[in-house]
Formats: sequence, structure tokens, C-alpha cells
Amino acid sequence: MDLHARRADSFGAQAEAYAEHRPDYPVAAIRWALEPLGTTERLDVLDLAAGTGKLTAGLVAEGHRVTAVEPNEQMLSELVRRVHDVRALPGHAEHIPVPDQTIDAVFVGTAFHWFDQEKALPEIARVLRPGGVLAAMWLDTDPDVAWLEEFQQLSNTSVESQRHDPVEVMAHPSFGPAEHAVFPHVHRRDSPEATVAWINTHSRMLVIDDEERAAVNDKMLEFLRERPETSNGPFDVPLRSEVFRTVRVSE
Ligand SMILES: C[S@@+](CC[C@H](N)C(=O)[O-])C[C@H]1O[C@@H](n2cnc3c(N)ncnc32)[C@H](O)[C@@H]1O
Repeated sequence: MDLHARRADSFGAQAEAYAEHRPDYPVAAIRWALEPLGTTERLDVLDLAAGTGKLTAGLVAEGHRVTAVEPNEQMLSELVRRVHDVRALPGHAEHIPVPDQTIDAVFVGTAFHWFDQEKALPEIARVLRPGGVLAAMWLDTDPDVAWLEEFQQLSNTSVESQRHDPVEVMAHPSFGPAEHAVFPHVHRRDSPEATVAWINTHSRMLVIDDEERAAVNDKMLEFLRERPETSNGPFDVPLRSEVFRTVRVSE
């Protein structure tokens, strides 16, 4: 298995920690993504690569009929345990187990970069109704916060973060031009240890060897225990959610 495939499949080994320590998504980002549909009524929404249900839970809370599709068994089990009122199905973005034109919006949270784009985009187009929306979103630490930038540098490993340019990727005949928006968010952490536990749920941490991981963890902990922003009790880590949306055109 190559590194890309190993990383894409790495999250399940830490599924429980993932569910406990990863952030959720801002409601404003979900609402913005759905704006082109022109209604706030209950919609048929698909959370593709749903993981343990971080985004799924937000979609359910907004009152939508949600189908969650996730290939990793351990991640899907966590989702089923934690998120109710959702139809949860095993499946991949390249072969979505949902009939043609039955979905109003496909959401992808921090996972679009793992897909085989050439196969996934036509599949997403197939399940969407004409006029439906594809929304790909990510969560990143706020690059304008000095201590956080320093912390991010410290948490780098021999494996780099994975990301494509979504606008370029979404340039596909089944979809209109992609629009982009950024939403502020925070991730509440109780302690430096909980912050390090969060970072350890990223694939670049999951696929490195134990020795490298231990060294990076020591550096991160030392930093967080010394910084005034993070050394004492609960603190909010400033995040931003980048969202790209595009509308399924009629053929
Ligand atoms: C970083 S996690 C994001 C999970 C969730 N959407 C969230 O925001 O927390 C990436 C997820 O993509 C899934 N994944 C990887 N390759 C995939 C593929 N080809 N099709 C669908 N899901 C995939 C992984 O199993 C993992 O659950």
C-alpha cells in the first residue's frame, strides 16, 4: 500500500480518540454551503467520508435527513455509537452506495483530498439532484495567531500535511464554478495533553514510527506547558473553517 492509501486508511486505529479530540464544524459554514438550495426546509444530505460523525452531528442538529458514508469500519462504528437519527452506510467516495439524484447536498469534511477525484466527482454528481450542492470543508488552525503558528511548526513531522487546491479539482463539467468562504471557529481544550491528543489523530502523526511520534509529542507538550495561553486550565484554540461550494448543473 502506498503512503497516500496508508494515510487515507490510518484514522480507524485511533477512532475513539478521533471522536473525542477532533473539533466539530461551525454551523455558519453548514448554512452557507446550503444557501444555493434557497430553502431552510429539511433536506436530504449526504456526509461523505463521515469518519466518526463530527460533521454528521452538525447536519443532524440542523434538522436534515442525513446519510453518512464512511469506508473505515472502526470510524463508522464510532459514528453509529455517537450520532443518532442518521442512516450510516459503509462505502467510498468513488462508489457511493446511494441511488441516482436522491441527494440535495453532499458534504465532505476534511477528506476531499483523500479521494480519487476523477472517480469521486462523477459519483457525487450522480447522487445529487440537479441544482444540488457539493460542499468540501476543512478546519485549520488560525494562521494569524502567533503562538499557534509556532505550535504548528513544532508539530511538523517527516510526513507533510495533505491538501489539494479544491477549486481546481472541482472544475468539472457536472458542476458550476466553485465559491469559497472562511468561517471562524474554536476548539475548546482542557489541557496541553488534550491538545497533543488531538494532533495525534492526524494521519501525518498516525503513520510515522513510534520514536518520531514520541519526540514530536515531547516538543509539543513542553511548548504548551510553558505558554501563558495554554499552560493553565481550559483554553480555546482559534480555528478557521474553509468551505468550497459548487452547484450540480443540469445536463
Ligand atoms: C480526516 S477524516 C474526516 C472525517 C470526518 N469527515 C470529520 O470531519 O471528522 C478523513 C476520513 O476520510 C475517510 N476516507 C479516506 N478515503 C476515503 C475515500 N476514498 N472515500 C470515502 N472516505 C474516505 C477516512 O476513512 C476518514 O474517516
